[in-house]
Amino acid sequence: HASLRSLAARQDVRIGTAVDTTALSGDRTYRALTAREFNSVTAENVMKWEVIEPERGTYDWSEADALVAFAKRHGQAVRGHTLVWHNQLPAWLTSGVADGSIGPAELRRILRDHITTQVRHFRGDVYQWDVVNEVFNDDGTLRDSLWLQQLGPSYIADAFRWAHAADPRARLFLNDYNVEGVNAKSTAYHELAGKLRAQGVPVHGFGIQGHLDIQYGFPGDVRANLERFAALGMQTAFTEVDVRMDLPADDTKLTRQADDYRRLLDACLNVRSCTSFTVWGFTDKYSWVPGWFEGQGTANLLNEDFAPKPAYDAVRRELAAG
Ligand code: G3I
Repeated sequence: HASLRSLAARQDVRIGTAVDTTALSGDRTYRALTAREFNSVTAENVMKWEVIEPERGTYDWSEADALVAFAKRHGQAVRGHTLVWHNQLPAWLTSGVADGSIGPAELRRILRDHITTQVRHFRGDVYQWDVVNEVFNDDGTLRDSLWLQQLGPSYIADAFRWAHAADPRARLFLNDYNVEGVNAKSTAYHELAGKLRAQGVPVHGFGIQGHLDIQYGFPGDVRANLERFAALGMQTAFTEVDVRMDLPADDTKLTRQADDYRRLLDACLNVRSCTSFTVWGFTDKYSWVPGWFEGQGTANLLNEDFAPKPAYDAVRRELAAG
């Protein structure tokens, strides 16, 4: 049957997946399906700070470069994830801040150098960057991260300016979870984006992760949310979609899951400025979910044996229908 990517090509939207690079090198079925089904890839972990700059000033591009090479061989675009986050930071950085050996002025230089070096390295290869990831709390206040504590809120505008200087062609995104619909958190992003763009800061897109859980119901006003970012002149993208559930799975839950995938994709297909729809892994075999949410799992399109679940068929049908 037709692949997801062949169906998506007709819709003017990219269909992507996060890639576990260990599985990519060790699992032939995983590798074949990554190439066959998707025309955009995101590194699940290997473009994060702890992997890219494990020692201060020493960069390790090996895993990320291998993914970029794979993407080129298979005609896939690459989303860059992520430049500024509070998780998966290298120990030299967090301990240096904690013991005071890295003060705010130096931390700001470290951030500038990291962003500049990483974005330059992938210039021309990465089409969208998640520049800042998860900077707001659910109530719409700024997250009390190391970055906010040390640098104040201006680190966000700085990060976008530095990234843009390093690759003017890359589209630069804000990215977060629990922002699918219109709520306090997505409204905080909308206000921030409007303010930054009015100041001439190069913010081009809003990334909606899309980590759903069937028990919470489908978020309201997803399409209206996408449209209000379009009204600011911004792209939107679903960047990390998966839909988890309490185990064991049954037909009712799997149908519910399929419907959640379909409705997120439907919102993207119906708003022109929504440029990509990326799932956070495509098989339950390599999902982050069971390790993070006790008793939950089966969040992906294919099961652990790579057999399609109702969600896969729903995504195919939605892409085919537009
Ligand atoms: O490979 C390492 C190994 O070297 C290390 O010593 C050991 C102990 O930490 O485990 C391995 O690292 C794990 C890594 O995934 C790679 O498998 C980490 O423990 C584990 O915490 C890490 O989890 C990742 C998580 O981000 C961490 O924040 C998940 O795979 C990844 O799917 C998840 O992705 C995030 C997005 O970046 C942002 N949005 C939410 C999303 C889900 O949490």
